Amino acid sequence: MPQVPLFTCLFITVTPLSSLALDPCSAYISLNEPWRNTDHELDESQGPPLCDNHVDGEWYRFTGMAGDAMPTFCIPENHCGTHAPVWLNGSHPLPGDGIVQRQACASFKGNCCLWNTTVEVKACSGGYYVYRLAKPSVCFHVYCGHFYDICDEDCNGSCLDTSECTCSPGTMLGPDGQTCFDENECERDNGGCSEICVNLKHAYRCECGAGRVLAKDRKTCEDIEGCHNNNGGCSHSCLGSEKGYQCECPRGLVLSEDNHTCQVPVLCKSSAIEVSVPRELVGGLELFLTNTSCRGVSNGTHVNIVFSLKTCGTVVDLRLR
Ligand SMILES: *[C@@H]1O[C@H](CO)[C@@H](O)[C@H](O)[C@H]1NC(C)=O
Ligand SMILES: *[C@@H]1O[C@H](CO)[C@@H](O)[C@H](O)[C@H]1NC(C)=O
Ligand SMILES: *[C@@H]1O[C@H](CO)[C@@H](O)[C@H](O)[C@H]1NC(C)=O
Ligand SMILES: *[C@@H]1O[C@H](CO)[C@@H](O)[C@H](O)[C@H]1NC(C)=O
Ligand SMILES: *[C@@H]1O[C@H](CO)[C@@H](O)[C@H](O)[C@H]1NC(C)=O
Ligand SMILES: *[C@@H]1O[C@H](CO)[C@@H](O)[C@H](O)[C@H]1NC(C)=O
Repeated sequence: MPQVPLFTCLFITVTPLSSLALDPCSAYISLNEPWRNTDHELDESQGPPLCDNHVDGEWYRFTGMAGDAMPTFCIPENHCGTHAPVWLNGSHPLPGDGIVQRQACASFKGNCCLWNTTVEVKACSGGYYVYRLAKPSVCFHVYCGHFYDICDEDCNGSCLDTSECTCSPGTMLGPDGQTCFDENECERDNGGCSEICVNLKHAYRCECGAGRVLAKDRKTCEDIEGCHNNNGGCSHSCLGSEKGYQCECPRGLVLSEDNHTCQVPVLCKSSAIEVSVPRELVGGLELFLTNTSCRGVSNGTHVNIVFSLKTCGTVVDLRLR
């Protein structure tokens, strides 16, 4: 029997994978699991939350029941088959843009971006997107897929009866001229938000960092009210409590209707006004009105002024005695 030298088996040339500049549009891994879709709510009676720990820096494409692209708006927790769904905080690139970087956010505990990572995205000429996805640092994170509305005959109210598509408000036509992508309001002027802008499906909202809350305009942030902030706006003392805070006044003064400033108690009668100020608050000052013959009279504990509305004028003056 002829002997085959063993070394002949070793003459195999191996081209290192890295030297082949593969286009990610043709060399990608499909993510097609139905539970990955944004419509899939986590139901722990059906099984434990899933985890993308097998995703590891390769190029991926969302296909089949997983959806056709990543959602570009915040997905509430306990969707996409897991606790912390990962969405793309930014819009998809155009076919000519090549590979672009985007931030991907994981939402959890009411925070749309509790954790973030950078992903790479490319628009392929075939009308789909591929993503280079990093391995999530912890479970339970899953990269979500989403079905965007396709603007065709079945398109529910968002197409005109012409060859041109019209997308519904909050969405805009993608580069394929068919898909209605979510409009990312946060990309223009941060949505007008002074701090954090969170893009939502067909909408957006502003959020504030720790210690601050959204003001009435729903865009700017203001400090959470309390005695620690500008004495709670109180003119005198501020008393903090578990429920909030309240302003307090020195003895002899009363809290005015704005609940923040202390004022001298005033008694309004039909023809006169009576004012009574504790003497220690007046100190060495003399109280009188525009008509200086209308002046405060001290009875030992208080300085009292009773003035006629007709003859005294209504401006109180202070002057050193
Ligand atoms: C992204 O994560 C880094 C650190 O992990 C953090 O410093 C940064 O603020 C995060 N960005 C957002 C928008 O959450
Ligand atoms: C659009 O779809 C919704 C539910 O998906 C349905 O209730 C509604 O009637 C549809 N509208 C039109 C114009 O087809
Ligand atoms: C999304 O990214 C933008 C720009 O990088 C940032 O201002 C915004 O705060 C991010 N959104 C969230 C929810 O973190
Ligand atoms: C002042 O406090 C009272 C009682 O707590 C409340 O009913 C009222 O609305 C407050 N007024 C203002 C201007 O906040
Ligand atoms: C002084 O006048 C005030 C207000 O009328 C009254 O409450 C107070 O009891 C008076 N003090 C004395 C010592 O009469
Ligand atoms: C000032 O007030 C006194 C007392 O009410 C009154 O008699 C007098 O006429 C007033 N003077 C003027 C200029 O109004």
